[in-house]
Amino acid sequence: MIEEIENLEAEIETTEIDDSSGLEEFRLKYLSRKGQIQSLFAKIGSVPPEDRATVGKRMNQLKKLAESRYEESKAAVENREDRQFLPAEDITLPVQPAYRGSLHPLTQTLDEMKQIFLRLGFDVSAGPEIEDDFHNFTALNFPPDHPARDMQDTFFVRKDEESGSDDLVMRTHTSPVQVRLMEKARPPIRSVMPGRVYRNEAVTAKSYFQFNQMEGLYVDRRVTMGELIETLVMFARLMYGSDVRYRVRPSFFPFTEPSIEMDIWWGSCKEGQWLEILGAGMVDPDVFRAVNLDPEEVTGYAFGMGVDRIAMLRYGIDDIRTLYENDIRFLNQFSN
Ligand code: PHE
Repeated sequence: MIEEIENLEAEIETTEIDDSSGLEEFRLKYLSRKGQIQSLFAKIGSVPPEDRATVGKRMNQLKKLAESRYEESKAAVENREDRQFLPAEDITLPVQPAYRGSLHPLTQTLDEMKQIFLRLGFDVSAGPEIEDDFHNFTALNFPPDHPARDMQDTFFVRKDEESGSDDLVMRTHTSPVQVRLMEKARPPIRSVMPGRVYRNEAVTAKSYFQFNQMEGLYVDRRVTMGELIETLVMFARLMYGSDVRYRVRPSFFPFTEPSIEMDIWWGSCKEGQWLEILGAGMVDPDVFRAVNLDPEEVTGYAFGMGVDRIAMLRYGIDDIRTLYENDIRFLNQFSN
């Protein structure tokens, strides 16, 4: 009997328990009611009475041993298995705020411009960035020898082999969208047309080879120059506040007659100066004829705003190039 107990003791001490199924196996084999220790206890009656006390004591020690091995292993196994579900990092550390992107200052400015004109009853249209000569120049009354049609000012994309003329260009302004609109929609038309434009020009703090414009067109019966100026002044006030300093000057464009330009006082640059933000005018009768509208019947005004310059004035940016460098330290200042 003592030998049996000793054998079991040795067995229990050397059993390796490394997971919860090993643990359960151990419990069934030694500690359950049908386990080996219990069956030893059942045999105590066959031990001679004078030895019973000693044997009984050994058996109790054996049971204690099995129980403590079980408890220890159980704690170790549970600890190991729990740990598998712990994240690798300490989740109680304070959080680092995640980086959130934001709208580019040009997009924010354009959104605000669109909002203003939506309130004034305009809708929004768009046209292609690669234009043909007809829409970018001819229909807009540019004479064949106009300097804008020179390689110096325009990026040409493709030569038309048949005619030998340069027929596809990166649009130099958003005015061709006016033409496209009047080709398909009949008056009254009241629309703004934002988009990117391209010019083969020297890059300076005020101009870039690529920039953004928002064209506006209003065509109906008896549209007047007074309404045009009223609308532009209202725009300047809504954009910059009612104390905005502006001026309207006469100008020239082949597709408007008469033509004007509007400047806003640029106080954030070194000594302060006027910055031109738009060209505008009454739609030239030749433009109406190019799209088969009768200039005796309809009149209209058009304007083309420089979105980049409007953004520079709005945010006090003094170099247009920073708008295109995608420097995150610059852009973060405009996060909303
Ligand atoms: N398209 C002209 C430009 O790019 C601006 C303009 C638009 C002027 C509409 C008059 C009317 O300079």
